[in-house]
Amino acid sequence: MAIEKHEGDVVQRDETVLKGATKTEFDFGPFDHSNLPITEHLPVVIIGSSMVGMSLGVFLGYYGIKSINFDRHPSTATHPRAALFLLRTVEIFRQLGLDATLQKESAKSFNLNAGMLIVETLIGGKVLHRMQEADPVKTAQITPAKRLWLTQNMFEPVLRREAERFGARQVFGMNVVHYEQDANGVVVITKDLKSGDYNKYTADYLVACDGNRSPTRRNEGIDWNGPGILGNSISINFKGDLTPYLGSRAIHGVTYVVNERFVGGFRLEDNGKAGFMIVNKTPTRTNFEPDSVTESEAKEIFYMAAGLEKEIPLKVDSVSYWSVAALNAKMYSKKDGRIFIAGDAAHVMPPTGGMGGNTGIQDAWNLAWKLAYVLKGHASRTLLETYHQERQPVVDRIVQQAYSRLVNRTFNDKSVPHEQELPDDTCELEYRYANGALIAANVEGASEQFEDPHQPLVLPGSRMPHAELIDSSKNNSTLSTLDLLKQNFLMISTDPSPVWLAAAAQQNVPVDTYVLSKNSGPICDPEEKVKQIYKLSEGHVILIRPDGYIAWRSNLEPASSDTQDTLSSVLKRILSP
Ligand SMILES: Cc1cc2nc3c(=O)[nH]c(=O)nc-3n(C[C@H](O)[C@H](O)[C@H](O)COP(=O)(O)OP(=O)(O)OC[C@H]3O[C@@H](n4cnc5c(N)ncnc54)[C@H](O)[C@@H]3O)c2cc1C
Ligand SMILES: *[C@@H]1O[C@H](CO)[C@@H](O)[C@H](O)[C@H]1NC(C)=O
Ligand SMILES: *[C@@H]1O[C@H](CO)[C@@H](O)[C@H](O)[C@H]1NC(C)=O
Ligand SMILES: *[C@@H]1O[C@H](CO)[C@@H](O)[C@H](O)[C@H]1NC(C)=O
Repeated sequence: MAIEKHEGDVVQRDETVLKGATKTEFDFGPFDHSNLPITEHLPVVIIGSSMVGMSLGVFLGYYGIKSINFDRHPSTATHPRAALFLLRTVEIFRQLGLDATLQKESAKSFNLNAGMLIVETLIGGKVLHRMQEADPVKTAQITPAKRLWLTQNMFEPVLRREAERFGARQVFGMNVVHYEQDANGVVVITKDLKSGDYNKYTADYLVACDGNRSPTRRNEGIDWNGPGILGNSISINFKGDLTPYLGSRAIHGVTYVVNERFVGGFRLEDNGKAGFMIVNKTPTRTNFEPDSVTESEAKEIFYMAAGLEKEIPLKVDSVSYWSVAALNAKMYSKKDGRIFIAGDAAHVMPPTGGMGGNTGIQDAWNLAWKLAYVLKGHASRTLLETYHQERQPVVDRIVQQAYSRLVNRTFNDKSVPHEQELPDDTCELEYRYANGALIAANVEGASEQFEDPHQPLVLPGSRMPHAELIDSSKNNSTLSTLDLLKQNFLMISTDPSPVWLAAAAQQNVPVDTYVLSKNSGPICDPEEKVKQIYKLSEGHVILIRPDGYIAWRSNLEPASSDTQDTLSSVLKRILSP
């Protein structure tokens, strides 16, 4: 398999296409809108209302910013692509108060603690490996979150309901046909696919979550590179009751099937009554051109991969065509630009490890508070440049990890160069921003991009670690340090009389403050875990950004007598870098 670089206009097909439907390849063109009145001005317009675009709308709403999403599809996803919501993603939805809703939704169809298997055939085949099995005790030491199995057609309707509550409007059946940036903002032209009417919107910022064939990425002239396009695969969406044959294999979210004749996997739902199978290789094919698989071939592939000798009532709902690719955009926005790309528009990766959609949601989370702070006048526009600065290098590594998982788990030829797989906990939780909206630490290990969440470094750019606390005002119930974070910066100290907390109260930007110790109240830390995990010493504080990443530690700053001045200059360096 060739490792090649791809520049610019790479043809991608990863938009699941219903059998019989034609694909829409689209590019922006010129548009004379001089006679079109402005329908509305919005702080942020988002192209695409799939998992990343809609998440971004909800995140902006959480920070009090109104936005609108336009999507040309008639409604939310009808295909069950993404399945595994990884730990960091669930932590984000927990901050929004949505984790319980999502967990309930997931429990309807999936066993939460089941991991993935690699087997020779689904039914009765030898188990080659077990992966991503939850170790509830070990995971609970580092996060209040649990991985969730949720298909996109389970997740997106929940998100759509919530979007309304957060003031994030989702408009479907609406194509964005043109945009342009001028000195004051962005002009966006939409076409209503039912009525054919054009509308003109103006916005301060435009975020394109328009998928891997992103017309915006092309229009901005942004190249991407990485291992490249590795092949064209399919997913077969089926209904057929495998329950009588599966035994304990019904509970696994994903079961890879790898043998001499076949490479792919099953993602089962409803204890094995439906689902989809991914097909990368069959005895006769390693490449699947669009619309090339007939229903009878799909059924044949199904029986072979399942290892099922007798026929069962089987319905093939659809076949989706997509490319296995590993690519990352070189720029996530132009310098000083008002246009950003996020999600698959900025990167694609093989589905092994389930990281694609999760990474996109985390792009949106990184960008949302920055847009909100700039729009509210708390930060200068240069803060928005840190979106590219922070996300692009981290995603480079994540793409490599997804690629390593593909090679190591599904290729027969493991001599294809790939990185060593890092543990799932590390990939999911503990990537670190080396530079950006933070006061970088000049200490050992500070330039590492991944850390072990069981031994966190707790440096600027690291995720705030979890420690379990007690709330005596709520019947001594437990909570996580992560639960202290709301829309504001957060300052934590373990020392009852730090001058920094007083300084925090004097800032123009709101900073929530907590002293966490054995004797603090109502929230206390009976075993002084925060002191130990956060490595806080007397008189020192740690400052956390609204997205849960550490911005600054006072012990890395030269001692100062004027804490108020020091803190305001620290905030200025973070927010107006
Ligand atoms: C088989 C398979 C399994 C996967 N499993 C996982 C998994 O387990 N976990 C995971 O995290 N990820 C997984 N992924 C990846 C995941 O599905 C994608 O990363 C995710 O869907 C990307 O979301 P997005 O919002 O960035 O883009 P998309 O979902 O591609 O959405 C882009 C949207 O933009 C709209 N659009 C584009 N241009 C315009 C325009 N001009 N005007 C209006 N609308 C426009 C499109 O209609 C579309 O709805 C999987 C992918 C595949 C193929
Ligand atoms: C490949 O996977 C195996 C089994 O999970 C693991 O032990 C090994 O370290 C992986 N190799 C690489 C190069 O990542
Ligand atoms: C308080 O916690 C105790 C012990 O966990 C429990 O038995 C009790 O029902 C709780 N009371 C309320 C009001 O939640
Ligand atoms: C909470 O815990 C403290 C310390 O163990 C104890 O003194 C107190 O009575 C408890 N309160 C409730 C409501 O259980």
